[in-house]
Amino acid sequence: MKWNERKAKDAIAVFSFGPEEIVAASEVFRSEMEKGVAGDKSSTLNPLPSFLGLPTGDEQGDFIALDFGGTNVRAERVRLFGGGQYERSACMAKPLIIPGRYNHANGGETAQGLFGFIAEIVDAVIGGDHETPYYLGHTFSFPAVQESPDDAKLLSWTKELAVPDVEGQWINERLSEAMQARGLTNVRPTAILNDTVAVMLAAAYQWDDVAIGSIYATGFNACYLEKFGGEKTPMVMNLEAGNFGWFDQNEYDAALDQASEKPGEQVLEKMVSGRYVGALFSRAFGDILGETFPAVTGEDIFHIIRGDDEGLLQRMAKGSLTEDQVRESIALAEAIVRRSARIAAAVYAGILRHVGNDGGRNIAVEGSFFMHMSMARATLHEALKELLGDEAEKVKVWQVTGGASLGAALAAAMNGK
Ligand code: BGC
Repeated sequence: MKWNERKAKDAIAVFSFGPEEIVAASEVFRSEMEKGVAGDKSSTLNPLPSFLGLPTGDEQGDFIALDFGGTNVRAERVRLFGGGQYERSACMAKPLIIPGRYNHANGGETAQGLFGFIAEIVDAVIGGDHETPYYLGHTFSFPAVQESPDDAKLLSWTKELAVPDVEGQWINERLSEAMQARGLTNVRPTAILNDTVAVMLAAAYQWDDVAIGSIYATGFNACYLEKFGGEKTPMVMNLEAGNFGWFDQNEYDAALDQASEKPGEQVLEKMVSGRYVGALFSRAFGDILGETFPAVTGEDIFHIIRGDDEGLLQRMAKGSLTEDQVRESIALAEAIVRRSARIAAAVYAGILRHVGNDGGRNIAVEGSFFMHMSMARATLHEALKELLGDEAEKVKVWQVTGGASLGAALAAAMNGK
């Protein structure tokens, strides 16, 4: 394996996202979201109404919260006390994929198999109780159209999920059928919402002035409260920001996109989220060494940047790297994460500009990638200053945990159940 110095320099350079690009990305994002909200079909963004406003903080009751994201399925019991107080208990979670054992996410799974797996987790969290009536709130982390908070129709899988015959289906209806098949007729799904919306509701239940709810994890996305003006009731809008396609893809972005389940879709997400940054690194690192490597994970990137897994780089390069080459490999991982955080900042600043000063200025973010990657957080803050100037001082970025569950319970409570 031979390190190509010129390629290393070029690879680091192609992941830069400079001052002009970040301003342009943010402005175009704002204008596209405004077009999309106004119903202009030529917009590259398709904002999806949640049919939910913000909670009052007084919501109360006991709920089952189901969180179906890109990596795990989790069910919890959540008790809302009002006054922004709540308690989570009895958690049951399983990954969608355990390599070598099962895979509930790929093209070999059936819709029935997937919903059966989810129903099994719900059954476990209530200890097999098929008598007591339960209301369930469902955080469903994929683009879906809604006509009410009751149900959502999946538009398109993202994050490499590929289970056939689920796109175009009403998700809570399929879930109800699977639960009935297990004898869980006592559990009623009463609300469904995107994970960004769940984070926004969870944050607004506890704190004031929340402007944006966002997930920065396996996937990336953001939502905000659209006031509409006039007679229309304000509503949280899921922007599906990960599908923003304005960017020039570099050669690694383009190759990753082509090899993905959905080429051409989720262009921003493939440059930003934890599901893809490791794959981008492996492609560029492989190009420098004239090799092909399997994708490393977002967590691997975290360790590479912290410098505590030099072994991983050497294992990939069969021990051939000099100290300088290790340093350049770390710089490559940093360039990928820096670009990711700068693009996230462009999205947030675009939304804040749209929202204006009328309302909150704070950003509630949940996600393992964001939580663990201190470099992404620091870069995000810097980039927000670059984009918003002095205004950035008024913007706080809050890290939320458990937002998917709390938000699901709140949505069920707000939907009058
Ligand atoms: C989905 C969004 C979701 C985000 C974060 C994206 O792939 O399209 O609906 O909010 O991931 O989980």
